[in-house]
Amino acid sequence: MKDNFVLETIFSRRSIRSYEDTPLKDEQINSLLEAALISPSAVNQQPWHITVLTNQDVILEWEREIINYFIDIKDDFTAKRNESRGNKIFYNAPAVFVISMEKGKEIDVGIMAQSIALAAKSMGLDSVILGLPRVSFDPRYNDKWNEKLNFPKDYLYGISVAVGYGKDAGIDRQIDISKVSYLG
Ligand SMILES: Cc1cc2nc3c(=O)[nH]c(=O)nc-3n(C[C@H](O)[C@H](O)[C@H](O)COP(=O)(O)O)c2cc1C
Repeated sequence: MKDNFVLETIFSRRSIRSYEDTPLKDEQINSLLEAALISPSAVNQQPWHITVLTNQDVILEWEREIINYFIDIKDDFTAKRNESRGNKIFYNAPAVFVISMEKGKEIDVGIMAQSIALAAKSMGLDSVILGLPRVSFDPRYNDKWNEKLNFPKDYLYGISVAVGYGKDAGIDRQIDISKVSYLG
């Protein structure tokens, strides 16, 4: 049953790892922010902060550090996977929504990330949710990125969502019904 626009959007969203240069318009960014900020959170605490990153110099600097992190710690598996993706973390997306959070609020920011991803799809945009940038908050970086990305005091990296006009359709997937039990 995919016969309404919400279901259609949920089923057609895919992680996209290649983007056109076309920047997002302010109205698009504002709509995505509003969709994010109307997300539900436990006791309506809204334990989140969003940094909208469109400066490609900063995005590329951050990307380079993330790539180097995996090389430095000799995580060959991730370093090779990064290499197979052209050593791209943000995939040239024109906008990255970086969500920081209060400690332990992963569920709230996960829901917020999905709001952005689905809103983007409904607006004719594509997205990919990004956990890997979390490595930049390793103590070795001395809070460099918390400050650069304007996290509120004591906030931690939650998740990011890169958004733009995708250059491909992503990888098709089937649902796995074995993940379900029925207790009748
Ligand atoms: C919490 C989370 C973290 C993710 N982190 C990354 C990431 O750092 N890099 C990436 O390319 N994809 C990342 N993804 C995308 C997943 O790989 C993707 O959702 C999954 O393969 C299913 O594909 P689909 O989104 O196209 O349906 C992440 C997804 C989630 C939900």
